[in-house]
Amino acid sequence: MVYEATTSAPVNIACIKYWGKRDTKLILPTNSSLSVTLDQDHLRSTTTSRADPSFEAGDKLWLNGKEDVIKEGGRLWVCIKEMRAWRKELEEKDSTGPPLSSWPLRIASYNNFPTAAGLASSASGLACLVASLSKLYALPQTPSQLSLIARQGSGSACRSLFGGFVAWREGSDPSGIDSLAEEVAPRDHWPEMHALICVVSDAKKGTSSTSGMQRTVETSSLLKNRLEVVPGRMGAISKAIQEKDFESFARITMIDSNSFHAVCLDTSPPIFYLNDVSRAIIALVEELNRASGKVIAAYTFDAGPNAVIYALEENMPVIIGAVNRFFPTNEEFEDPFKTQTKDLPEGFDVRVVREGGWEKGAVKGLIHTRVGDGPRTLGEEESLLNDQGVPK
Ligand code: DP6
Repeated sequence: MVYEATTSAPVNIACIKYWGKRDTKLILPTNSSLSVTLDQDHLRSTTTSRADPSFEAGDKLWLNGKEDVIKEGGRLWVCIKEMRAWRKELEEKDSTGPPLSSWPLRIASYNNFPTAAGLASSASGLACLVASLSKLYALPQTPSQLSLIARQGSGSACRSLFGGFVAWREGSDPSGIDSLAEEVAPRDHWPEMHALICVVSDAKKGTSSTSGMQRTVETSSLLKNRLEVVPGRMGAISKAIQEKDFESFARITMIDSNSFHAVCLDTSPPIFYLNDVSRAIIALVEELNRASGKVIAAYTFDAGPNAVIYALEENMPVIIGAVNRFFPTNEEFEDPFKTQTKDLPEGFDVRVVREGGWEKGAVKGLIHTRVGDGPRTLGEEESLLNDQGVPK
């Protein structure tokens, strides 16, 4: 009998950004955040976890085929330890099942998007680890309860345990028990919500989220202002989602992205995640909205220069058309939705971007996706481990 589970988990991109910890060990944030879960048909992490008494003592984990050390006291170690403790609790209540909690683990994880794309893989990866262990251990915990563990792997990971539109409530308890993710609305509530990821070239090594946000907490006085306005934005964007009010959703998303990058600039030494291409994409989206006479697109940027543009499916033809025109990509764009692009709206002022557009490859590639579901359980044929318990 093989005791194994394979799951996949989605990427999420925040509209209200998490940036700052009040407790760095437990990963408790300075503010609540809200994200859209992206479709796993396009971007996902897959993880297989197996427990076997014949494995050599000690747990092992591989990420994209390369062994990763599970450092004692580190984030991965904490997640595995907490999940095992829940399994042990279960075994103590009912000893008829296999004593999985006492067996060594072999875990293999794989991201279907290149790390070089600069997309955060920690959120989907850590959420997937927690989802697969929860399945292997047959845990009764809800996704919100599981989010308490994923949060300790990487803050933003807690939001990847749900599909649709997801809030991470900051909570107030020092133990972290109420700092968890919950669904604001399922994907089916607003399936027309699409996202276009513009992968922007970046030669320099950026500042990691973990160290960047800590520096902001220590040095930025503007962060205090941000923490005063974010609760109002959380309420307003949740309402916009409930009412499927794209204009409000988009305005809040753009304002919060800009507010996040403003506190980065206010950090000492300053942190620059946006580059000239990122700023040109902002100008393009703002002009598209102006010329359209209504807000049809919203940009948002995480800890790097890549843009994520949220838009309703019906408006993607003009948005993709505009991005293609000003930012010719190196890679061929394989659009799973086969969008028929449209020309710029009448009155669009081409001077806001750059005369003649940008050089080929300034935007390396595009990924067109949409709002998606939460972690999925996959069949044994999708296992990433071979008979010996090492990656296939
Ligand atoms: C800009 O979750 O990567 O993407 O908790 O230290 O692992 P750690 O940080 P991480 O930070 C993500 C920051 C962000 C905004 C967001 O996703 O909300």
